Amino acid sequence: MTKITQVNGKEITGVGQEIQKNYEAFKGKGLKLDLTRGKPSAAQLDLSAELLALPGSGDFVAEGGVDCRNYGGLQGLTEARRLFSGIMGAPPEQVVVANNSSLALMHDTIVYALLAGTCDGARRWFTQGATQAASQGPAQGSHEGGIAFLCPVPGYDRHFTICKEYGIRMIPVAMKEDGPDIDAVERLAAQDDAIKGMWCVPKYSNPTGTVYSDAVVERLAAMKTAAPDFRLYWDNAYCVHHLTDERVEIANVLELSAKHGHPHRPLVFASTSKITLPGAGLAMFAASKENVKWLLARLTARTIGPDKVNQLRHVRFLKNEAGILQLMDKHRALIAPKFQKVLDIFGQKLARVPNVSWTRPKGGYFISLDVPKGCAQRVIALAKEAGVELTPAGAAYPYGKDPDDRTIRIAPTFPGLAEVAQAAEGVAACVLVAAAEKAGKV
Ligand SMILES: Cc1ncc(COP(=O)(O)O)c(C=O)c1O
Repeated sequence: MTKITQVNGKEITGVGQEIQKNYEAFKGKGLKLDLTRGKPSAAQLDLSAELLALPGSGDFVAEGGVDCRNYGGLQGLTEARRLFSGIMGAPPEQVVVANNSSLALMHDTIVYALLAGTCDGARRWFTQGATQAASQGPAQGSHEGGIAFLCPVPGYDRHFTICKEYGIRMIPVAMKEDGPDIDAVERLAAQDDAIKGMWCVPKYSNPTGTVYSDAVVERLAAMKTAAPDFRLYWDNAYCVHHLTDERVEIANVLELSAKHGHPHRPLVFASTSKITLPGAGLAMFAASKENVKWLLARLTARTIGPDKVNQLRHVRFLKNEAGILQLMDKHRALIAPKFQKVLDIFGQKLARVPNVSWTRPKGGYFISLDVPKGCAQRVIALAKEAGVELTPAGAAYPYGKDPDDRTIRIAPTFPGLAEVAQAAEGVAACVLVAAAEKAGKV
């Protein structure tokens, strides 16, 4: 019984008691479940077991006679850049294949821009935005810089951690059905030259599953920005991570930005973390020729070259883009039922609860659950008490603060199907308790 909408008079106590009873029963099971981080399950990792046996002994030679065991090859193997060229939306010469983490590449490109400036900027970011900063008080953790990034919310917590770490002011922008609130983005980017960048997860966003419409991508590519060296941090982490038959495609931000006269604006990132092995995969970067030259110049000071043995084994394992898509179909077969299970349970238990809604993503790794205002922390605390670990409330917002305390990120990929079902039941029970408490019915 979840009819907390229809409660009046004497019924209040009855419904509240039933909700509480269900919650106590769930808690009584003494389960230990975890819906926190978006990690692949062991069964998913097993799909790439063969990778670890490659490239095999005796054949370490890549195209052009490159001995992958040795130093060099800063931009990545030619065949690896070709392999990911379609996914990255850029010709191989504009692709860099690096080591195991795209987040590290995002972090490093921000630090390079702070310390060394961009390929088209007059000054390094670290020394800019001081006027803005002075009027707004010191940016957290920074000494003098006052630059800012636009942050669609809810978003990816680790993007926000990079900004926090380097004192980059975060300006939240609402996420809508078709991408970030583009009117707000255009207005903000045009008026403040301290705004140097924007976080974008354009396909199957973390955590909302949002896919940016072609119109939004084009407006991001075309908009006027007060900062001449404004960058779109285009984190296409879920580019091939479909959950349905529909392989959703998005507009090519590099081509559109070039068309509108801003070729250096997008920095495109992706990785094989959730294609092969997170931690032992490959990270990719694509951008204008000048941006690639700029990155390679910075990398020259940092390293003699990436792990080409891992690049070679990925090329031999994945073969081509069709090979990547086939592997992703196998991932989908393992994880789509888990998403469906959560959606079914939420549908059964929460459909008629006022101010509760959730996303039905066509891809990616998350479901975003919205509970009544002021209830997210309470739901998470109740879940913890009942043995279900959820991502902390506010994690998907800059500075960890969800102003409405209502968004909860659900990550169903890692646990087994039965555990996912139990956890979703538990979450639903907690939402009902919190909503009933809020409505004064418990
Ligand atoms: C949007 C997004 N970007 C980047 C990452 C991490 O990528 P990588 O493993 O390549 O560092 C994640 C992982 O959850 C993510 O959700």
